Amino acid sequence: MIRVRSEDSRRQKLAQGDDVPGIFVCMGKSCYVRGNQENLVYIEVFLKQRGLDVRVDLRGKRCGRSCETGPHIAIGNAVYGGVTLVRLKGLLEKHYACM
Ligand code: FES
Repeated sequence: MIRVRSEDSRRQKLAQGDDVPGIFVCMGKSCYVRGNQENLVYIEVFLKQRGLDVRVDLRGKRCGRSCETGPHIAIGNAVYGGVTLVRLKGLLEKHYACM
């Protein structure tokens, strides 16, 4: 289940200068059934195990109309397509290596 943060908590986090990149998971039907259902679970476990679940803004987003290259996940300003579980592991390690 995606945690939904209120705008107040998001503003508070930004005001604190926490520049930890957020994660957007495409929850459109195509991306969801092609891997983002499992990817989301993996992300939640990854963040929780590292104590990052309270710092990383994890959100779902609607279909980005580029379904053919999905499943899509955005981390910070980078948008990734074709995100398999194997690729996701590498992306998370890359973006959150020093945290
Ligand atoms: S469902 Fe993800 S881009 Fe369309």
